[in-house]
This record gives sequence, structure tokens and C-alpha cells, in this order.
Amino acid sequence: MAEFIVAKIDEIPNGTGKVVFAGDKPIALFNINGTFYAIDNTCAHRGGPLGEGDLGGTIVTCPWHGWQFDVTTGVSPFGPTVEKYEVKLDSQTQEIKVVVP
Ligand code: FES
Repeated sequence: MAEFIVAKIDEIPNGTGKVVFAGDKPIALFNINGTFYAIDNTCAHRGGPLGEGDLGGTIVTCPWHGWQFDVTTGVSPFGPTVEKYEVKLDSQTQEIKVVVP
């Protein structure tokens, strides 16, 4: 288990996502009303970048072919899932950390 500082809180406005890196692992990080969620950036369909997808509510839409995933669970209504990661906020440093098993 390892914890990575991946971004500052103000880098990801409410209702948006971003591709960040936990070491060399790309992670899709989303801000929903000040709560941050991290899932695998690599779409379970053909590897599209989920962190670049549009976010509507808790659902991100893959920019490549439109598969959707709930960023709070990593589950897609299409069936497959992507890994979900624990997120920690450091209010003193304003840093977002992702825990990777
Ligand atoms: S790669 Fe994401 S929908 Fe195809």
C-alpha cells in the first residue's frame, strides 16, 4: 500500500475531473461538491482516458466511445468495473493523496 500526493485541491474545480499520476500509474480524479473520487484512468473498454471524460453527477463518460462509469464506485452500467482508490485530503497543505494498494 502506498500513498501518493497527486494534486492540489484547487487544481480540480467542482464538477470536473483530471488525469493525475500515483507514481507512474494514471488515475482519474474527480471533484463532486468538494468530495474527491479516484478511479483507474484506463477505461475498461479499450483504454480511453476516463479522467478526460465529461462528468455528469457521479457519472463520467469515456471520451473515446461513450462507456460510462460511476466515479464513486468504479462500476459501469455496461458491466465491467475499474479500480476505485481511497482519497485523502490534507487540509493544511491543500494536497490530495491517493492510496494505491
Ligand atoms: S475506450 Fe472507453 S468507451 Fe471505448
